[in-house]
Amino acid sequence: MKPDQLQQMARHEVDNLSNNRIDLAPDVLKVPTANYVDSQRWQQEINQVFKRLPLALGFSTEFASTGAYRATKIADVPIIMVRSDDGVMHAFVNMCSHRGNYVVAEGSGSAKSFRCNYHAWNYSLRGDLINILDEPNFGEVDKSCLGLTELPCSERAGLVWVTLDPDSDVDIDTFLNGYDAMLQHLGLAETQVVGRQEVAGPNWKVAYDGYRDFYHLPILHKDTIGTDLSHQPDYFAWGPHVRVVSPKNFSELATIAEEEWTEAQMAQGVWTIFPNISIAGGAHRGGFYMVSQLYPGATPGTSVTTQNFLSFGDPKDVDPTALKEYMALMQHVVANEDYFTGFNVQNALATGAKEYSYFGRNEGGGQLFHQWLDALLETQSEQLNTLFSKGLNHG
Ligand code: FES
Ligand SMILES: [Fe+2]
Repeated sequence: MKPDQLQQMARHEVDNLSNNRIDLAPDVLKVPTANYVDSQRWQQEINQVFKRLPLALGFSTEFASTGAYRATKIADVPIIMVRSDDGVMHAFVNMCSHRGNYVVAEGSGSAKSFRCNYHAWNYSLRGDLINILDEPNFGEVDKSCLGLTELPCSERAGLVWVTLDPDSDVDIDTFLNGYDAMLQHLGLAETQVVGRQEVAGPNWKVAYDGYRDFYHLPILHKDTIGTDLSHQPDYFAWGPHVRVVSPKNFSELATIAEEEWTEAQMAQGVWTIFPNISIAGGAHRGGFYMVSQLYPGATPGTSVTTQNFLSFGDPKDVDPTALKEYMALMQHVVANEDYFTGFNVQNALATGAKEYSYFGRNEGGGQLFHQWLDALLETQSEQLNTLFSKGLNHG
């Protein structure tokens, strides 16, 4: 990243504000409504997007000490994320090499090793099989080949990224295209998760369309968070990853000298991470970040969103009332406004009465998401790094 990239964007927004304009995509994009309802396509999205790409599944500070782990299930793949004794984050399929039991129950905690509760095979934090119960009587097996199945795992910008396909060779840095350096401005590595809740939603794309969408903010959310929000966004993209801001977010910066702009002021807006993350809120302005992770549900018409709430400083200093109120507000806004609308959208899309949904020139972030999704569904695994390094429209 160029060190002044954040400042250049802020300058651009102040300029757009003073000229009362926003950046526009070249054309209106038509997305076939069938893309939202076709169950075969939905399965392809899981297999070719969620299972092949690095996903931001956790936060570095959740795994501050050796042995800190979280076991969860993503797109039906049971996984463990753990900080091993070499200080490095590892991810494994949560599956015992003996006969497949989970080696640790879903949830988080601190472990010295993972001992399967079926027949007590024991694995180190690096995933090596270190003990077989009654080994002489079990018979000869090569322990060195019977470790946990390791998944590609890395840390960038305070986030832990895991790829669910153990054979995926998508390079995290090629995939991120410099975006992690931008996300660094949010300081996630210095925040702690202080709250977490789930929201049930419609089809994951119907739900996720709303996160890159400022167009709806003062309309759908007029009674809650939208009163003072602008419906006019600008989009900045790094590969498939999109930051959404509005020039109006920069009205304060427009009145002060550039030397006085703070990183927090310049880093406003919503930072999305393809294919399923949105980072919003203002922890760096004394409140909370809300990091939303959207996952396809059990059927094409359902999704589950994990809302993670993060703040700077010691979690003990967090005002529990303020946190409770913010979490309740976000549950209400997303469940009763965004996803209530999303379920209506989904039911109507399923009628087939309209062939297309429309993304305007002022909805460039939504356009990019659907263009990238199309490209990924058409790209063979061995070509993914090429796609991410060259970008769209480059053959
Ligand atoms: S399934 Fe894990 S020890 Fe048997
Ligand atoms: Fe919304």
